Amino acid sequence: MISDREYFVADPAEGVLLNNLFDNSNPLYVEIGSGKGEFISRYPQTHPDWNFIGIEMSEKRIINCLKKLSTERNANVRLVRRFADENIRDMFQSSSVSGVFIQHPDPWPKRKHHRRRLIQQNFLDSLASILIPNAKVQVSTDHSEYAAWIVEEFLQNPNFTSLQDDPIQLHPNLDEHIVTWFEEEQRRHGYHPHFMLFERI
Ligand SMILES: C[S@@+](CC[C@H](N)C(=O)[O-])C[C@H]1O[C@@H](n2cnc3c(N)ncnc32)[C@H](O)[C@@H]1O
Repeated sequence: MISDREYFVADPAEGVLLNNLFDNSNPLYVEIGSGKGEFISRYPQTHPDWNFIGIEMSEKRIINCLKKLSTERNANVRLVRRFADENIRDMFQSSSVSGVFIQHPDPWPKRKHHRRRLIQQNFLDSLASILIPNAKVQVSTDHSEYAAWIVEEFLQNPNFTSLQDDPIQLHPNLDEHIVTWFEEEQRRHGYHPHFMLFERI
């Protein structure tokens, strides 16, 4: 019998596109940094005709995610243990991803670490190359300085525009907002998330 790990966690050889993880041509959505798996286990259940890939760099977090996934409820989900950065361009076929979710990316608050931030021009150029026109990118962070940085980076990039009147909103912008473990923890400490929604032009 196939284990949950074998079912959900894919480790394709270098150069094999992640689009091939599903044997159907349903729209493909990607979450970067799935953490303890709240989003990747729940949101895809409300969109059974979409495929979802969670990219998560930490083995410990992959195990957390697996505890929340079930083959009955989450047939449209796969996980990949990878570090995503501008290399995301090599993971997917160009113009093939319908949307991306990034909840609470690591803010790297110290100035000397800013270059480690996920959201910066090289990454956004790569991301744009895998997205279909009008694809949406949903980002949230409770770190207000990183939120302002994220907006600046997206709006500076010719491939993206904000879909919000105010690019930073204090309430969720999805059809169903999944409160993650990290969001809940941070709220307890008085840090409230900022929500952003961008569109691939
Ligand atoms: C602050 S946690 C947030 C987790 C989850 N999205 C949430 O809201 O609870 C950041 C997560 O992203 C993962 N991560 C950070 N940078 C990543 C990257 N470049 N590629 C893949 N995973 C990453 C970390 O291992 C961690 O699980």
